[in-house]
Amino acid sequence: MRLTASDFRRAMGCFATGVTVITIDQEGEIHGMTANAFTAVSLDPVLVLVCVDHRARTHAHLHARKRFGVNVLRSDQQKISEYYARSDEKHQHPESAGARFDRTAQGTPVLQGALAYLECRLHSTQAAGDHTIFIAEVEEVVVRDGEPLLYFRSQYRDIADVRG
Ligand SMILES: Cc1cc2nc3c(=O)[nH]c(=O)nc-3n(C[C@H](O)[C@H](O)[C@H](O)COP(=O)(O)O)c2cc1C
Repeated sequence: MRLTASDFRRAMGCFATGVTVITIDQEGEIHGMTANAFTAVSLDPVLVLVCVDHRARTHAHLHARKRFGVNVLRSDQQKISEYYARSDEKHQHPESAGARFDRTAQGTPVLQGALAYLECRLHSTQAAGDHTIFIAEVEEVVVRDGEPLLYFRSQYRDIADVRG
């Protein structure tokens, strides 16, 4: 059996996830990237990871800034996910997708209305194929009420769809 990229994508697409936007302060500008390769790693210390494609602008920004935010999207934030998944977009009009930001004390952009926010300081990196695994220590969190945006088989869903 020879595994193709499309087989791999189809299999991984069965693993339903939430959707995040990784935010970085890029010399005063807000940089965002949609990511679902995000997971908890350790409780002591509190570590998370995100896997980022070498070709993404975010890859260089994370290495340079060594600090980022993870914003867990709410069910009504699909447009924001689509906006920050566009590689051709300079992200100069986030309000066109309904995205507005505050800043943490460390200057990291925080997406208003997201279900959760995690302030992350880079701990270590691991090159892995065409991606890098960025492992980070979580310094603070914000959690809000609401329902999550889900991603399953290359489509956005919300919990109402799943409940049928
Ligand atoms: C639902 C969804 C999840 C994604 N997850 C990731 C991810 O975990 N890692 C990644 O490198 N790209 C991921 N992408 C693709 C990036 O969002 C996309 O390549 C983006 O344009 C990169 O932006 P940048 O070049 O500004 O960093 C995802 C896209 C979508 C739609």
